[in-house]
Amino acid sequence: MNDPRILAGRFPDDFVFGVATAAFQIEGAAKMDGRKPSIWDAFSNMPGRVYGRHNGDVACDHYNRLEEDLDLIQSLGVSAYRFSIAWPRIIPEGTGPVNEKGLDFYDRLVDRLKARGIKAFATLYHWDLPLMLAGDGGWTARQTAYAYQRYAKTVIARLGDRLDAVATFNEPWCSVWLSHLYGIHAPGERNMDAALHALHFTNLAHGLGVAAIRAERPQLATGLVLNAHSIHAGSDGEADQAAAARAFDFHNGVFFGPVFKGDYPESFLSALGVRMPIIEPGDMETISQPLDWWGLNYYTPMRVSHDPAEGAEFPATVPAPPVADIRTDIGWEVFAPALGDLIRKLNADYALPACYITENGACYNMGVENGAVDDQPRLDYIAEHLGITADLIREGYPMRGYFAWSLMDNFEWAEGYRMRFGIVHVDYETQLRTIKKSGRWYAELAGAFRKGR
Ligand code: NOJ
Repeated sequence: MNDPRILAGRFPDDFVFGVATAAFQIEGAAKMDGRKPSIWDAFSNMPGRVYGRHNGDVACDHYNRLEEDLDLIQSLGVSAYRFSIAWPRIIPEGTGPVNEKGLDFYDRLVDRLKARGIKAFATLYHWDLPLMLAGDGGWTARQTAYAYQRYAKTVIARLGDRLDAVATFNEPWCSVWLSHLYGIHAPGERNMDAALHALHFTNLAHGLGVAAIRAERPQLATGLVLNAHSIHAGSDGEADQAAAARAFDFHNGVFFGPVFKGDYPESFLSALGVRMPIIEPGDMETISQPLDWWGLNYYTPMRVSHDPAEGAEFPATVPAPPVADIRTDIGWEVFAPALGDLIRKLNADYALPACYITENGACYNMGVENGAVDDQPRLDYIAEHLGITADLIREGYPMRGYFAWSLMDNFEWAEGYRMRFGIVHVDYETQLRTIKKSGRWYAELAGAFRKGR
């Protein structure tokens, strides 16, 4: 199953193999060249929010090591690089002056990718909201969506001619529910009303962003990256099945519905609609403009049962235990078939455009021994999920590419640097990069794929 030559032969000629990162997780250089703080700079410096109070001040120092990191990507032989652009570098206060030096950095990044023959997949928002906007309510305020639109326009006006694809948002589920309802990500709120505001204004910002991108560059492949959840009921019982349907609407439907159908799911609206902000005329049309592609970030299934607690808030579910208890070092269940189930279910429910797996990978924390990192479980994980992706292609689903998360170990949000997802190891003391066994295998796969064409 893990023979890279056999696996490579299962993908069509135009399939894209890439690696992915995000600005805040790798760049560091938090105060360089006019960057101002994001909500994650503030959050990570508060006690008790991020493991060990780790922060993004230095991270992988990618900002200062751009050339060598691009060489590293090239050495892996992949054809695409997915990265995010830091809003706090481009418009450091969220609104107000544009910082040319910030744009210059991404200009260099894109030019040097192109010089190496690597496709540029940019994400406009991967959670680093300029802190100044938080003072005005951040994502819970409608005007943040308009600030985002101006930011999107600014970036595309400068870089759009050389990007191969752009995503408006990465995993709005995290920047909405995880950030405003579950309190795990910045700004760390636990408030359904705030979260419902963040939900609608993030969806709106996505739509306004699409309009801004299209106005600048109508031909640029424009999409959205969603961490759709593969939801499995804890039992066949009616209550658990109904709970799984509610969970689907709450975790997936509130993003897929507006974007691909122009509506929030009915069950969600009837439970929580009265607490939503005002949906202004035209909002749903703005949000549901057709996309050229969508990205799926998939790691683990979500298993849910009905929550019997009286008055439990929608979707009223509790976690159900995994079937086979195989977990990565971050505690996430490994269950590759769920990736196939998810793509089939989503394509049955919505008219979806072409799909890239924009993230997939595993957290294993083994370190360097004798100059090497033996991360066989990560290699197995990636191979297995690629196998499922190839099955989906055979079934006729429009799967266009796969990006391993991540190019290198990095700042894993609330887990700080202790959780490692890289196919390249980073020694944070010396910034030495060491390609792991999984990285070597991925490079072999990319090489075999190229040779086979
Ligand atoms: C999703 C996010 O997009 C990324 O930033 C994160 O590091 C990985 N998943 C792993 O949790």
